[in-house]
Amino acid sequence: MQIDVITIFPGLFDTVLKWGVISRAIQNGIIDFKAVDLRDFTADRHRTTDDYPFGGGSGLVMKAEPLFEAVESIRNLAGAAHVVYTSPQGKTFDNEKAKELSKKERLVFICGRYEGVDERVMSVVDEELTIGDVVLSGGEIAVLLMVEAISRFVPGVIGDMDSVINDSFYSSLLDYPHYTRPREFRGMRVPEVLLSGDHERIEVFRRKESLARTMERRPDLFLNHEFDQYDKKAILLLFKELKDCAK
Ligand SMILES: C[S@@+](CC[C@H](N)C(=O)[O-])C[C@H]1O[C@@H](n2cnc3c(N)ncnc32)[C@H](O)[C@@H]1O
Repeated sequence: MQIDVITIFPGLFDTVLKWGVISRAIQNGIIDFKAVDLRDFTADRHRTTDDYPFGGGSGLVMKAEPLFEAVESIRNLAGAAHVVYTSPQGKTFDNEKAKELSKKERLVFICGRYEGVDERVMSVVDEELTIGDVVLSGGEIAVLLMVEAISRFVPGVIGDMDSVINDSFYSSLLDYPHYTRPREFRGMRVPEVLLSGDHERIEVFRRKESLARTMERRPDLFLNHEFDQYDKKAILLLFKELKDCAK
């Protein structure tokens, strides 16, 4: 997968992408990431990427010409590309969107700054995506968030695909709680069932925890969940525990 990010701050990506899962994916050639300096597509000696808004008012607007030039140069080099403009006015980016975008061969992100981009840039944009109802000063952090989430679904990026499947949201449930050594820490013990070696019981216990958390914290997700055989066993276990508590 090729990812190009058009930004006035290409250096901002250097440090973050040097670490963790994403850095390995880049090193192993699974993801080809490039921060494209928007100023390389300006024609004046000051390398201007913004200007005052027509009609007056506060702030600056990112100029259309360099953004068009940048997108067109990427498209000319590599053909079809899916262009995303990071914007608080877009559709909310979520796990489903990350999964969908992970299937694209070539993604281009445009990072806005100031008041955003000249509206005419929307004619080269395939979709606008927001990370939520907050306003950032620029699209770079939003892109990093999206790239990290998208890359988790690109085959080969996460060694063990099971860990992705069990993550929150993948199956409309939140993840179950995790424990590691020691078995007991400051009086808090790891649930006995996790030490039992009984895989079926462990699976049912984990599903019960996932269901209970999702019901409590995200009833909206819970209502969309499609139940399977483990869910049925897990719900029985949950009812049994609730009954025992009520005694
Ligand atoms: C200060 S914001 C502009 C906000 C714009 N005037 C508005 O109210 O819709 C500057 C840039 O940051 C990025 N940005 C801000 N909030 C964002 C969000 N929630 N999700 C994705 N990108 C965002 C966008 O690229 C935007 O063009």
